[in-house]
Amino acid sequence: MQQAFRASIFHCLSDPGPRADKGAVEHFHDGLLVVEDGRITQVGAADQLLPALPDGVRLEDYSGKLIVPGLIDCHVHFSQVDIIASYGEQLLDWLNRYAYPAEMNFSDEEHARSVADFFLDELLANGTTTAAVFATVYPQSVDALFTAAEDRNMRLIAGKVLMDQHCPDELRDDPESAYDDSKALIEKWHGKGRLGYAITPRFALTSSEEQLAAAGRLAKEYPDTWIHTHLAENQQEVDQIAEQFPWSRSYLDVYDHFGLLRERAMYAHCLHLDDTDRSIMATKGAAGAFCPTSNLFLGSGLFDLDAMTDAGVRVGLATDVGGGTSMSMLRTMSEGYKILHLQGQSLPASRAFYLATLGAAEALYLDEHIGNFVPGKEADFIVLDAAGSAMSARVAQNRPRRSMSCYLR
Ligand code: GUN
Ligand code: ZN
Repeated sequence: MQQAFRASIFHCLSDPGPRADKGAVEHFHDGLLVVEDGRITQVGAADQLLPALPDGVRLEDYSGKLIVPGLIDCHVHFSQVDIIASYGEQLLDWLNRYAYPAEMNFSDEEHARSVADFFLDELLANGTTTAAVFATVYPQSVDALFTAAEDRNMRLIAGKVLMDQHCPDELRDDPESAYDDSKALIEKWHGKGRLGYAITPRFALTSSEEQLAAAGRLAKEYPDTWIHTHLAENQQEVDQIAEQFPWSRSYLDVYDHFGLLRERAMYAHCLHLDDTDRSIMATKGAAGAFCPTSNLFLGSGLFDLDAMTDAGVRVGLATDVGGGTSMSMLRTMSEGYKILHLQGQSLPASRAFYLATLGAAEALYLDEHIGNFVPGKEADFIVLDAAGSAMSARVAQNRPRRSMSCYLR
């Protein structure tokens, strides 16, 4: 079935950052998006495409609103929605005081199911149609999340958290069960519809060397699965990693040593890296998740986007709820702008959208499916209504070239 959607349309064809090509973004003030059987067939100016539209195509008119690709959250914890804004601590104390107790509740499958429904509905309400999600150590929490995503036909990458040390007993697995449970979940869910599996060691502090090696074995056996973990978020964490792995050159080197640094690896935070780390990440095709609200809330540090871009590292934007304080990628873009501003860097609205659409899709190796409106990709898009925001008066003044910033609430 063919459908067409009329609205203002914006998408990225490449990175509109410092080394941008001229045609990095496309904005059709009065545009048309044509879709057939769930895939994009055409995008362009309405006055050019409408006359050639075959009879019988269903036309939906969203004039005055903005169509953009579905937003992509590169790193978020579904078990932490209930602890957003649990304040007063930096990372390691925050985990012990808030995150771990909340995650213990997810051994109860009914609880996991009800939070999964709420979490995915919140993502969709915020325009996020794709996410890379930490479940918990309990396999049933992964089943609950994937089942809920499948019901909504959402694109979701998720996995069972692996942690066998330096955490409460209730949340502890072991190298063997971590391997066996992850393998069973990969076989059950990876590649089913729009779902993908991520091997998910929480971070190097909470896994023994045996467990990291088991995760690395899985990563080799299933090269098209993702690897999802945290990297160099907090200085105290980085110092403990250096003590725990005295042979390592850096935190990144620990993941590399155990076979957890490869394409489709998504590392949340990447705040305390050096140029060598960034260059190795770029060469190996790993990606960093920029988590502005979390980095501010937990006082972790300031993400250096220029250094990542100069090194050629793939970067996507992420909420990191519940360290992060908002499920909204629009709010996350806005906080990212401020973090970069504090460092003398800039984040134009077009690039903020890139980091939450095509850039995030490239970081997650999903850009053959989603991220922009190139014909053949999935018709995964959202309609933004600026009338819902306090900035609507500025949009109503009809200053189309500047009005993109109005959507960054
Ligand atoms: N590092 C290890 N676990 C976590 C977590 O749950 N949240 C954040 N922000 N960092 C982590
Ligand atoms: Zn996180």
